[in-house]
Amino acid sequence: MISVVFVCLGNICRSPMAELIFKKMVKDRGVDGMFEISSRGVSDEEEGNPVYPPAARVLREHGIEGSHTATRLTKRDVLNADYVLVMDSGNLFDVLRLTGGQCGDKVFKLCSFTSRPRDVADPWYTRDFERAYADICDGCAGFLDHVTGARRQ
Ligand code: 4NP
Repeated sequence: MISVVFVCLGNICRSPMAELIFKKMVKDRGVDGMFEISSRGVSDEEEGNPVYPPAARVLREHGIEGSHTATRLTKRDVLNADYVLVMDSGNLFDVLRLTGGQCGDKVFKLCSFTSRPRDVADPWYTRDFERAYADICDGCAGFLDHVTGARRQ
């Protein structure tokens, strides 16, 4: 099993979107048995809260169902994971601070697996949930190709 933890700030928008998008993607490709998939936030501000309704709405509009309860990332989560996929540079900094700089070789920005490496802009501030959805799909597809050794056209 490949253990993947998606990480954002609050764990109510981008990382639960990534968790649910990636769960559907691996199921659609018939490789869901290869992965253990979860998501966490570097902040505890939203702990216990469900997926933010506008994020859940965008997922539903794209045929993706599922729920998640916001949970803060721990050092143990990072130690136990094979891949920690963060949404932006701030998350990357916060994860490495949590681990005291350990495990840097398994922490990646999600969109570093695309042809256009970038941050997934936080829709909490941009209010652009469609753009976040598109960036996360691109990153998840690139990451899945990376770990399965596939190549995209
Ligand atoms: P997320 O978005 O990191 O994509 O879950 C945010 C959610 C909540 C806050 C910031 C970003 N907040 O400041 O409460």
